[in-house]
Amino acid sequence: MDKVLPQRQGATRSTIFRSLLASVLLTIVVVTSLGLSIEHTSFARTKVPINAAHIVQQCRALHILPGPPKNFHQRSESDRFVSGTPPTLIRNATIWTGRVSGHEVLIGDVLVDKGIIQDVGKIKESVLKAYKDLAIVDAGGAWVTPGIVDIHSHLGVDSAPELKGASDTNSLKGLVLPWLRSLDGLNTHDDAYRLSISGGVTTANVLPGSADAIGGQAFTIKLRPTKERSSSAMVIEPPYTLNGTFVDPSLPPRWRQMKHACGENPSRVYSGTRMDTIWAFRQGYDKAREVKATQDTYCAKALRGEWNGLGDFPENLQWEALVDVLRGRVKIHNHCYEAVDLDGIVRLTNEFKFSIAAFHHAHETYLVPDLLKKAYGTTPAVALFATNARYKREAYRGSEYAPRILAENGLKVILKSDHPVLNSRHLLYEAQQAHYYGLPANLAIASVTSTPATVLGYDHRIGFLKPGYDADVVVWDSHPLALGAAPKQVFIDGIAQLEDPHVSKKPEQFQHAPKTPDFSKEIKETLKYDGLPPLEAKKANTDVVIFKNVDSVFLKKGSVIEEAFSVAEGGSSGVVIVERGKIVCMGTSPCSNFPDDRNVHTIDLEGGSISPSLISYGSHLGLHHIDGESTTNDGKVYNPLKGDPPSVLGVGPVIRAVDGLQFATRDALLGYRSGATVGVTAPSSSGFLAGLSTAFNTGSPHKLASSAVLQDDVALHISIDSSSPSVSTHIAALRNLLKGGEEGALGELFKQVFEGTLPLVINVQSADIMATLINLKKEIEELSGTDLQFVFEGANEAHLLAKEIGEAGVGVILNPSRPFPGTWKSRRILPGPPLTQQNAVAALIAHNVTVGIGIEEQWSSRNIRFDIAWAALEANGALSKSDAIALASVNLERLLGFRRSVTDLVATKGGSLFDFEGKVVSVISPERGVVDLI
Ligand SMILES: *[C@@H]1O[C@H](CO)[C@@H](O)[C@H](O)[C@H]1NC(C)=O
Ligand SMILES: *[C@@H]1O[C@H](CO)[C@@H](O)[C@H](O)[C@H]1NC(C)=O
Ligand SMILES: *[C@@H]1O[C@H](CO)[C@@H](O)[C@H](O)[C@H]1NC(C)=O
Repeated sequence: MDKVLPQRQGATRSTIFRSLLASVLLTIVVVTSLGLSIEHTSFARTKVPINAAHIVQQCRALHILPGPPKNFHQRSESDRFVSGTPPTLIRNATIWTGRVSGHEVLIGDVLVDKGIIQDVGKIKESVLKAYKDLAIVDAGGAWVTPGIVDIHSHLGVDSAPELKGASDTNSLKGLVLPWLRSLDGLNTHDDAYRLSISGGVTTANVLPGSADAIGGQAFTIKLRPTKERSSSAMVIEPPYTLNGTFVDPSLPPRWRQMKHACGENPSRVYSGTRMDTIWAFRQGYDKAREVKATQDTYCAKALRGEWNGLGDFPENLQWEALVDVLRGRVKIHNHCYEAVDLDGIVRLTNEFKFSIAAFHHAHETYLVPDLLKKAYGTTPAVALFATNARYKREAYRGSEYAPRILAENGLKVILKSDHPVLNSRHLLYEAQQAHYYGLPANLAIASVTSTPATVLGYDHRIGFLKPGYDADVVVWDSHPLALGAAPKQVFIDGIAQLEDPHVSKKPEQFQHAPKTPDFSKEIKETLKYDGLPPLEAKKANTDVVIFKNVDSVFLKKGSVIEEAFSVAEGGSSGVVIVERGKIVCMGTSPCSNFPDDRNVHTIDLEGGSISPSLISYGSHLGLHHIDGESTTNDGKVYNPLKGDPPSVLGVGPVIRAVDGLQFATRDALLGYRSGATVGVTAPSSSGFLAGLSTAFNTGSPHKLASSAVLQDDVALHISIDSSSPSVSTHIAALRNLLKGGEEGALGELFKQVFEGTLPLVINVQSADIMATLINLKKEIEELSGTDLQFVFEGANEAHLLAKEIGEAGVGVILNPSRPFPGTWKSRRILPGPPLTQQNAVAALIAHNVTVGIGIEEQWSSRNIRFDIAWAALEANGALSKSDAIALASVNLERLLGFRRSVTDLVATKGGSLFDFEGKVVSVISPERGVVDLI
C-alpha cells in the first residue's frame, strides 16, 4: 500500500469496535437462551470465556467467501493512490474495455484520478471542468487497453540478473509446503520490473516454482516502484492474515493464491514418481481436512454456547493456508501438463472438495476438455504458452491451436509468461500468436488482461477499463494484436511509467487487428493424431506450379536481398511460374501467355509474397528431439578445460555436429513449415569448446536424402561465457590455440582460423570480454598478417562496443534477438523502444556491423520470421524488409562462411513472412527441383 488515509483507518477501527460489541451482546443472548432452554444448572456451570465474542466472530467468519467489500466500487480513491499524482485525461483513444466479453471498443477518452479510472468514453465537459491541473495525453486514435496481467510469473523471486543470492523460487524442504510465501523472497531490485512495464505489464502473480507438489502461496503485485520500496507495498489486496495484525472482521476476506504442481517437476526433484507426488498431495490435504474438521467441531460447539472445556480455537499456522483452500478461499494455480496428471488432480479435487483456479502450462488440456469440466467446483481456466512446447515429454504434444480449441470448448483461456522462462515484457506477443493460430481477437486480448484478472479474483479492480477500476492503462503504438505492438505510455495506479518513451512509427495496416489465416485443417489433424499430426511437407506432383495473386517477390542478389517484384510497381496482381523448382517467369503481363495445360498446379497466394527462406541459427535444432529427454538427443561434448578428452578420441579431437544430426524432429519440421528451411547447429556444449557446426535442411526426412545436408562443416564454435574455470583461463586457452599450441584435427582447424579461412563463432555476452577478444584478434592478426573471421554470438552487450566491433570487422549474431538481462555478464542490454530509441540491431548496423539473429531454444525456429520483422519494426525505418530478411539469411551465410547460398524460396498466402496475416504454403527448392506444399 502506498498510502493509508488516516481517515479511513479511523473508520475501520470504529467498525471493528462496533461489530465486536454487537457480537458480545449476541453471544450473551445466545448463551442465555440456550441456558434457559436446557437445565438451570447447566447454564450456571457454563463459564463463558472472556474472548467469547471474538471466538464467535471468528467462527462465523470461517464461512465467508472472499471478495471485495460491497461498497468497493463507490470508492473515490484507490488504496494504492500516491498523493501528488496528477489527474490525467487520455484523449481520442480507441478503447478496448474488456466488457461484453471483450467485444466492446469505444472511441473516446479515459479520465484517471486518485489512482482509479473516473470515466471512459464520451466524457462530459462538466466533468472535465472540475479538474484544474489535468495532464492531457493525446492518443491520436491509438489503441488503449487495460494493463497486462501476467497470471504466472516469477518476477522478483527468479530475478534478473540471476545471482546465487537471488534465486528464491523453489524450496527443497519437502513436497508439500503450503505455508511458504513467495512474498518472503520478493526481490525489489529485479531488473525485469522496468522491462516488463515497458511491454505494458502492470500486474504479475508471483508464484513459487514447481519443484514441489505444493510450493507455497503466491502474491499478486503491481510492478511499479513504490515510495516505501518494500516488497509488501507491491502486493495488491494483501490477505488480511498476512502480517497477523490486521484482521478486519467487518469485511469479507481477500483472495489468497497458491501454487500446486504435478507431473515431472515435483516427481523428479524428490527422485520419486507421479504416484509419490499424488500421495504427497493426499497426505497434505488429509491433514488440512483434519485441522478443518477440528475447527468446525469447535465452532459448532462455540456457536451453540457449549463453552465448557472448549479451550482455544484450534489454530494451526502451518496448515491454515491449506485449510483455507478447503474453505474455498484460495485460488489454486496448478502447474500440470499431461492427461495423466490432470486426471490425478481432478480426482484429488473431488476427493477433498476444493477447486482449481487454473491449470498452468497445461499442454494436454486441449485433448481432454471434458476431463477439466469434471473438476470439483468451478471449471479450471487454462494458462498457456502460445508456441513454447516440446521441451520435455509433458510438453511434447503442446499445440499452437490449444487456445482456440479450449475456447471452443467453453474453457477460459489465459496466456502467461512463466517469467523469466519467457520474458514477460513480451507477454502480449503470446496473445498475438494465439490469435494468429485461431483464438478470436476479443478472447486473445482478454487472455492477458480481463481473463487472468477474473481468474485471480481481482476483476473488481484490474483487467478492465471501467469507472472505479485501478488506473492501469496502456496506450499502444499499434493494434495490440499486431506484431511488435509496443506501449507509447503505461499507467499504473494512474502514474505514468515511461519517462521519455521512444515510439517507432508502425505501418498503417498495423493499426488494425490482423486478418489471420485459416488453420481449421491443421486443427482437425491435431486432434485426429492426438496432438502429433504429421508435419512433413508433400511435393507438388506437377513439374509446373503457378503462383497467382502474388503481391511481392524478394530475391537474393549476391549477398543482398532485393525486392524483385511488387504489385505497387506492377500495378495488378502478379504471377510467378515455377518449373521444377525454378522461377521461369515472374510479373504480370509477361507470364500471361504461359501454356496453361492440365499438368499444372495453381496456388492462389491471395496477395501473399515469395521471399528467400530463412536460416535458423542456434539452439539444439537437429540434434535434439526433446531437450529434457537425454535419450532423444545427441548429448553434450566433453569440456577440455575440465579434464582430458577420452584417449580413444586421439590428440586434438574435433566434434562435428553433422555426425550427430537427427532428422524429422518436430521442431525442425515446424521450422520448415514456417519458412526456416535451413538449420545451423553447433555441437551441444556447456563449456569452452563446442566444435564444428553444420547446415542442414529442416524439412528432410533423413541425412541421405537429396540435399539434406547443405554443408557438413560450417564454423568453429567456442564459448567464453562461463567463469569455471576463469574467463581469463578461457582467453589463455584461446590464445594458445590460435598460436598453434594444439595438434591434431583441432590444431588444423585453429590454423584455418589463424589464416582467416574459417570463421570462429564465440559465444560471449559481456562487452568486457568482447573488448578482450578484439585485442586478442589484433594481437593474432599481427602474427598472421590476415584478417581473422570472428563472430560474437549471444552478444547482449555488443551495442556498447558497436563502433569498435565495426572497426575490428567482427560480425555479431544477436541471440536472443530481443535481449534480456538474464545474467550479470549480459545485463547491460539495449532494450529498444519504448525505453531506448534504438534496438541492438539498429545500433550495430549503424556501425556497419554484419548482424544476424539466432534462437536460444529449438521450439522458436518457427518464430524467426516474426523475430526479423519485429527487429525491423522497432528500428523505426532504419531497416527495410530486405534488411530484415538478411538478418536470418544472407548475413548469417556471410558470418558463418557458407560456401554457397541457400536457394530455397518461401511462398506465403494472405500476407507476408513479416506479419500475422501470411501463412507459409510452400517452399520452392531449385536445388531439389521441387515445390513442397505445406
Ligand atoms: C483522433 O485521432 C485521429 C487519428 O489521429 C484523427 O484523425 C482525429 O481527428 C482525432 N479526433 C479528435 C477528436 O481529435
Ligand atoms: C498489516 O497488513 C495490513 C494490510 O493487510 C496493513 O494495513 C497494516 O498496516 C499491516 N501492519 C503492519 C504492522 O505492517
Ligand atoms: C559504413 O560503410 C559505408 C560504406 O562503406 C561508409 O560510407 C560509412 O562511413 C561506414 N560507416 C561507419 C560508421 O563506419
